[in-house]
Amino acid sequence: MIALGADHGGVQIKDAVKQYLEENGISYQDFGTYSTESVDYAPIAAQVALAVADGIAEKGILCCGTGIGISIAANKINGIRAAVVTDAFCAEATRKHNDSNILCMGGRVISEEQAVEFAKIFLNTEFEGGRHQRRIDQIAAIERGELEK
Ligand code: RB5
Repeated sequence: MIALGADHGGVQIKDAVKQYLEENGISYQDFGTYSTESVDYAPIAAQVALAVADGIAEKGILCCGTGIGISIAANKINGIRAAVVTDAFCAEATRKHNDSNILCMGGRVISEEQAVEFAKIFLNTEFEGGRHQRRIDQIAAIERGELEK
C-alpha cells in the first residue's frame, strides 16, 4: 500500500498520482487533503510518515507547494527518509542510494505529468545496498543519538 498526502499546494499533483495508482491497480490510502482550501502540512506528513514507519504502508508520497515543508516534517519521524525530488534523475538516485521511503514533490514546482513520471520511477526502482547500506545505517545511528565514525 502506498500512503498519499498533500496540503493545498500539492493536492493537484497528489490527485494525479492517485489516478495513476488507481489505473494501475496499485493499492493506496489517501490521507488528504482533498481540496485547495488552505491546510497545514505537518499533521498530514506525520500521518503518512507514521504509516510508513509502522510498516502499514510500503512507501509514501507527500506533496506541498515546494515539497520542502512536508519533507522536513516527515523526516522528523524515526525511520523515514523523505526526499524532495524535482527531476527524474533524483527520483531514481534517491531510491538507489538513499533507500528513500517517502517521495516529496511540489505542486508549484512541477507539473502533474512530471509528478506521475517521478512517482512511477520512485516506485519501480530498487535500493542498491552495498556501500549505501552503510550510510543508511549511519543515518539510523544518528536517530538513536549515536554517531558512528
Ligand atoms: C503553503 O502555502 C506552502 O508553504 C506549503 O505548501 C509548502 O510549500 C511548504 O513548504
